[in-house]
Amino acid sequence: MSTTLSVNTESPSSLDADAVVVGYHSGGDAPEPASGAHTVDAAFTGGLGSTLSLLGASGAPEEVHTIASLGAVKAPVVVAVGLGPAPADGPVDSDVLSRAAGAALRSLSARPEGAGRVVLALPATTADQAGAVALGAELGSYSFDRYRTGEKAEKKAARSAETTLTVVSEAAGAADAVERAAVLAEAVSLTRDLVNTAPADLVPEDLASAAQEIAQQADLEIEVLDEHALSEGGYGGLTGVGQGSANPPRLVRLAYSHPEATKKVAFVGKGITFDSGGLSLKPAGSMDWMKSDMSGAASVLAAMRAISTLGLKVNAVGYLTVAENMPSGTAQRPSDVLSIYGGKTVEVLNTDAEGRLVMADGLVRAHEDEPDLIVDIATLTGAQLVALGTRVFAVMSNDDSVRDEIVAAAGAEGEASWPMPLPAELRAGLNSSVADIANVAGERWGGMLSAGIFLQEFIEEGTKWAHLDVAGPSFNQGGPHGYTPKGGTGAGTRTLVRIAEEYARKA
Ligand code: BES
Ligand code: MN
Ligand code: ZN
Repeated sequence: MSTTLSVNTESPSSLDADAVVVGYHSGGDAPEPASGAHTVDAAFTGGLGSTLSLLGASGAPEEVHTIASLGAVKAPVVVAVGLGPAPADGPVDSDVLSRAAGAALRSLSARPEGAGRVVLALPATTADQAGAVALGAELGSYSFDRYRTGEKAEKKAARSAETTLTVVSEAAGAADAVERAAVLAEAVSLTRDLVNTAPADLVPEDLASAAQEIAQQADLEIEVLDEHALSEGGYGGLTGVGQGSANPPRLVRLAYSHPEATKKVAFVGKGITFDSGGLSLKPAGSMDWMKSDMSGAASVLAAMRAISTLGLKVNAVGYLTVAENMPSGTAQRPSDVLSIYGGKTVEVLNTDAEGRLVMADGLVRAHEDEPDLIVDIATLTGAQLVALGTRVFAVMSNDDSVRDEIVAAAGAEGEASWPMPLPAELRAGLNSSVADIANVAGERWGGMLSAGIFLQEFIEEGTKWAHLDVAGPSFNQGGPHGYTPKGGTGAGTRTLVRIAEEYARKA
């Protein structure tokens, strides 16, 4: 990402900029200026709020109105964004601010002249709020233009490189919070870029190369196992899923360590670069967005980079389980039996339940690092979408307090998640007549949970583990909203970084 972010304490009405963003609350007769908006509001005859009211504004969340300032303030354009009702007490919610800043920047970035130099005069009386504004603004100005051609596209790329974001805040610690936000936004953008890349341009080898490059830049230790090393090492999940593709599988291990760290976290991400379903082929309508099936691996890679950039006082390892799931004469067959790393056997009754196979290899391997916690992240099941929709990811764990900690960490980071159970009785549904376990249950109910139960089979007693199913939230097939664009969203990336931060604090 090429935007630059800074903090300023000057009055937003006198700052030299192309646009100034202010917030308005709903609830009154006219939109009420929020904290930070008063000098800009007062610069307009009768107050900008009454003009906004004439234009039909209410101050509802993410409502965006762009107004020419005609000299009332120094910036030629004022963007008024809705923040919803003013909270009765306490500061405006950070996530409301991120989404408002995101909506404003999406709108400004869509102009022919681009966003330019933007001043964000949204409520930022705390460092947390300043960070939230910066994060939302940066994520809202994201665009993926790799495949666009022509003069228009070139101009757009040049303009977006010129975007500068200035957060107005007098809060102590605002500069640090904005700096952290920039690192997180870069991580989320990396995840989005990898997800949005066409699957022919991001086959397993490409994802492994991307990891190599990032490891070098971010000073991470890296190990890549190719298809030969995988089959020799007994990684039957990756080998079995990858064998139908002309593009062989990879397992990537990244490691970050801090000399004063006392805790270690391990992340395992599902990296199916394209999921056709294999011989259990998906219908066309379910397949066209399966380039996003490597979201989990992308999040792990991006989070590892952010952890290193932030210099967290924690040890972290990240595994990317990377394969392409394709049907062919060499593909695994429904009823084939494979042996996961460590030796457990799986009867593959449905080749479209491939994520759990590659993840099993990664989870078993992650135990060798002896981490205090393993967190896996995967676009694992369509059932996740049935249960929680497109914006809320699921958190399952073999430890209720870990599960609740992660849901809380996600919430504090502005990511929506919900705790889900791992009912023991679902294990019987995965009994195989020939192997240790089958990869799908006979019954379709609770598909997200039985996938979690399958993964749990590969976790040792006494090892703390959580599983994030991000199938829905990782890819936005609908319209953009808040700071979330169409396509790859980066969901879960910030939560992983937050978990590492919390384990750094436990040190
Ligand atoms: N990658 C899919 C899950 C998925 C679905 C992710 C929709 C994102 C959006 C996964 O590999 C899959 O195909 N799961 C199957 C499992 C089934 C065969 C038990 C599913 O959910 O249909
Ligand atoms: Mn699948
Ligand atoms: Zn999949």
